[in-house]
Order: sequence, then structure tokens, then C-alpha cells
Amino acid sequence: TSSAMAMDKNISKIMFNHYAIPTPKWFMLKKGDMAEQQVDENIKLQVGYPAVIKPNDEGSTVGLSIVQPDVEDVQLGKALSDAFEYSDNIMAEEYIEGRELTVAVIGGEALPVVEIKPKSGFYDYVHKYTKGFTEYFCPADLPDKLAEHIQKQAITAHNALGCEVYSRVDFRLNSKGEAFCLEVNTLPGMTELSLVPKAASAVGMDFTGLLNRIIELSLNK
Ligand SMILES: Nc1ncnc2c1ncn2[C@@H]1O[C@H](COP(=O)(O)OP(=O)(O)O)[C@@H](O)[C@H]1O
Ligand SMILES: [Mg+2]
Repeated sequence: TSSAMAMDKNISKIMFNHYAIPTPKWFMLKKGDMAEQQVDENIKLQVGYPAVIKPNDEGSTVGLSIVQPDVEDVQLGKALSDAFEYSDNIMAEEYIEGRELTVAVIGGEALPVVEIKPKSGFYDYVHKYTKGFTEYFCPADLPDKLAEHIQKQAITAHNALGCEVYSRVDFRLNSKGEAFCLEVNTLPGMTELSLVPKAASAVGMDFTGLLNRIIELSLNK
């Protein structure tokens, strides 16, 4: 199903490449594959530092670390063992410095782009990504053309993974205005305070209206 494909970050990224949706450079690692020193060399060759180490098939940022060896206390070995605690398949990914954006796609259309900003400006960059207090802006403060471009990419990513009714597509935007797709969430949070309802309210759709739309789309599949 689309869910299983989207939950596999590696397959998702292969699909993004296929559909020309930019995604951070990456390579896969299997438990027991290579020694830490070899991983370090591969990171330098293929993705560079800082690098993100994450399980292939987890959510909610568990087992995810941002590794930057120039900065004290950041250890590749620890990042690898943390990620391998959650999966036998993990990835090393290019770190995209910049802004965090997400786009909900529902019924083949993209809702306005949401920006997710840590309240303190604190991302625990050198240690481990930790969920802090965040603020959400919708529509995100972006030039119209860029916002439309990212919305189009979200729809393409959603379709590429065979998603049907709705999904939420995560991006990082660098300082050059290039958006990189990280993943598609096929079961995004759907409480009144979640991101999808926030994006829906930006186009005048209240929570009940959103749920009705989802039910209607699901019944018409
Ligand atoms: N390549 C990356 N560059 C910058 N930040 C990243 C990268 N990968 C992950 N992150 C940060 O970690 C968060 C969780 O990563 P993600 O790939 O979406 O996994 P999860 O399934 O845990 O949500 C992202 O929302 C982002 O803040
Ligand atoms: Mg995510």
C-alpha cells in the first residue's frame, strides 16, 4: 500500500529522484555493514558533514541525530547505535540547513504551506534533534512562486507514493530557496491542534469541514 511505501524513507527518496523532486543526498546502512570509520569516510564522500543519521522506517524523530564532528560531543558511533536501536536499516543523509516546511495534500490539492519554527531558535543542532516548543505559520512567509512550486512538489510526492485521500509532505528549504523533500507522512496527526487542520483553516475550512471532506473522499475512492 501507499502507506508502506511512504514509511520506507529509502524507497520514498528513490521515488522522489525518479520524479525529479529534490531530496537530500543519502546512503543506506545495514546493521553490521561497515565499521564506524568506514561510515565516516562514506559520509565525507557522499553526503558531507553535518550529516543526519536516522532509521529508515521510524517517525517522530526517534533514533535521529545530527552529527557534526567539528563540534565537541557529537559522536558518529553514538548516532549509529541510537538509530540501529530502532531499525536494522538506517540512512546517512545530507543535512539541509534552513527552514522547515510542510504541505498537506488532500483530494489531489495542496493546502497552503506551513512553516514550523522552533520557538527559541533552538534545534539542538549539535546533539540530538529534540522536539522543542514550536510555532507554526500558515501560510508560510514565502514568495508566491516558491510557495506554488513547493505545493506542486508536494502533490507530485503524494502521487508518486500512491497516496490517495490525504498526506502531509515535509520539506527543508535552504537559504538559496531550494526545497528538499524529506518524507511523506501518510498518517499525519489529525487532532484539532495538528498541522493539517491548521493548514485547512487557512483556506477557511474548519475542523468539521476537514473531517467531512476526508470522509467524503474516502467513500468515493
Ligand atoms: N536532511 C535533513 N536536514 C535537516 N533536517 C533534517 C533532515 N532530516 C531530518 N531532519 C529534521 O528531523 C525531523 C524528522 O525527520 P524526518 O525525516 O521527517 O523523520 P520522522 O519520520 O522522524 O519525522 C525533520 O522534520 C527535520 O526537522
Ligand atoms: Mg517527518
